[in-house]
Amino acid sequence: MDDRELLRRANEARADAHAPYSRFPVGAALLCDDGTVYTGVNVENGVNGLSLCAERVALFKAISEGKHRFSKLAVTCASDHCRPCGACRQVLHEHAPEMVILMGNPAGAFVRTTVRELLPDAFSL
Ligand code: THU
Repeated sequence: MDDRELLRRANEARADAHAPYSRFPVGAALLCDDGTVYTGVNVENGVNGLSLCAERVALFKAISEGKHRFSKLAVTCASDHCRPCGACRQVLHEHAPEMVILMGNPAGAFVRTTVRELLPDAFSL
């Protein structure tokens, strides 16, 4: 699947974000090695600290259905391009350090990088 199609899937998913507190919807689309795509959105909670980012929702959906090899993740939000938070970088690094990350916005602009570039010298057990 090409970059633009995966970004389109992330942006489409964004419509289902549950972001009543930040009013900052985020969408993600994760491409597995077998060609399947899992989407995610940020799911916020009124109790501070219980919200989940779109990237982790997509990743956990995929893992919970037996997927363990990932090639590319797109994330979009209404900024110049959407940057995964530090917590997501750590979680993504554990499962797919070499994965490509597409950081986009709804207008179609994006930056292409990798988990390793976003989190150099990462902690791992
Ligand atoms: N957020 C994400 O879901 N992914 C990112 O890459 C950046 C931030 C969420 C967290 C929170 O629900 C909202 O965006 C910003 O406060």
